[in-house]
Amino acid sequence: MRTLTLTALSLAALALSGCTGPQRTPPIQVWPDMRIQPKFEAQATSGLFDDGRASRRRPEGVVARDHVVEETPFNTGLQSDGQYVGKMPVEITPALLAEGQTRFNTYCAPCHDQTGLGKGMVPQRWNAWQPANLTESRLVEAADGDLFNVISYGRRTMPPYGWQNRPAERWAIVAYLRVLQRAQHGNMSDVPQQSRTGLAYKPGPKPIEMPSLDGPVPAKGAEKGAAK
Ligand code: HEC
Repeated sequence: MRTLTLTALSLAALALSGCTGPQRTPPIQVWPDMRIQPKFEAQATSGLFDDGRASRRRPEGVVARDHVVEETPFNTGLQSDGQYVGKMPVEITPALLAEGQTRFNTYCAPCHDQTGLGKGMVPQRWNAWQPANLTESRLVEAADGDLFNVISYGRRTMPPYGWQNRPAERWAIVAYLRVLQRAQHGNMSDVPQQSRTGLAYKPGPKPIEMPSLDGPVPAKGAEKGAAK
């Protein structure tokens, strides 16, 4: 008796599980599936148009709005002479930094950690893949356009993040990255006078001179690619 019940139950389960076996057209549906509804499949034919295609071609000369990527310093991080822009072509505001922080913590911190030192969860779990310390002097001195380029196209073993972040958002990340660098190289002169008492001054590593980055910086290793 028990075996019989079990068999009946498994048969019922099988029948309800949606394995349709030999197809009826249209198949019997216990629960109507949204997948099955009037629509044109890719490459299907249609009597509606003269050429009989359901998939339409773009009218001659039309470019999809979001697909135009003008070669401006804002979109590429490069000047017209191919050098990286020294300073970002975007005004730095508290709102920009807040956006940069959110995006940095989302897209960069898994590897570079929230301080930029490079001790995120990914390298902690996977020792062989070590990200750069974003606060080291080489990167403090890098041009804004260089950092923008790394985010857009990746570099060496770092994957690109250009698809997740549009140019304005990449500049926000660059701006916030500068905040992290500034924070690591702060010293007593950054602390307001009235807050200094009680702070033990321990001379840390020699502070890095923050460069002004006004002039053009050579576009060493600049990469151009498809990412916008
Ligand atoms: C999946 C891990 C990972 C993520 C996420 C990641 N990076 Fe990296 N990043 C790396 C690795 C690894 C390197 C070292 C690449 C090398 O030298 O091979 C690196 C290097 C860098 C460098 C130094 C490039 C140079 O010139 O040496 C910068 C700048 C940088 N990352 C910025 C960022 C920013 C900004 C983000 C967020 C948009 C980010 N990274 C997200 C892994 C990551």
